[in-house]
Amino acid sequence: MIAKQKYILVIAVILLQLSTALSAQGMMNKREMMMRHKMDHSMMDHSMQRHHSSMRPGGIPAPYGIMINPLPPSQENIARGAELYQTFCSVCHGKQGKGDGPAGAALKPRPANLTRFIRMPPLSRDSYLIWTISEGGAQFKTGMPPFKATIKEEDRWRIIHFLRTL
Ligand code: HEC
Repeated sequence: MIAKQKYILVIAVILLQLSTALSAQGMMNKREMMMRHKMDHSMMDHSMQRHHSSMRPGGIPAPYGIMINPLPPSQENIARGAELYQTFCSVCHGKQGKGDGPAGAALKPRPANLTRFIRMPPLSRDSYLIWTISEGGAQFKTGMPPFKATIKEEDRWRIIHFLRTL
């Protein structure tokens, strides 16, 4: 009888230790995850709201949600995209796309570093880019202007081809 009680006690102690160990590990993971999340935010320096809303099902609104670049990434298209980029975007996003253009310095959030952004799938997919460039950041209260009225759609796609070379 006493042996059985001892046995139960030993098991209980083992279980208790195991569960504290597991929960400590769980807490560490959670903290680590939160730290990583925070770091990502500060590294990206721009509209998290757009990122989050694009991840939801149906997040990128029509007609952009299913769009794919219809143009080939030819030399001509990339060269034209580069010209347009320098005319319309570099003032905020910087000549090399690093987010350091003179007109962007005072904006909050700051213009995105596109050289980094373009290497962040799934965010940097065609539908996300055409949506962002066309509609801008008004709905997320950012300084990113909408270009659907200023740059024709084909040229917006050319800019996107150029962005992929950054
Ligand atoms: C007046 C300054 C300004 C100009 C001009 C501008 N942008 Fe932006 N852009 C911003 C700001 C500020 C952000 C960050 C806030 C946001 O994401 O809406 C941004 C964000 C972006 C993003 C989204 C990054 C993300 O994380 O979602 C892309 C892509 C982008 N810009 C591309 C362009 C392109 C291409 C052009 C030119 C056709 C352009 N921008 C012109 C200010 C500008």
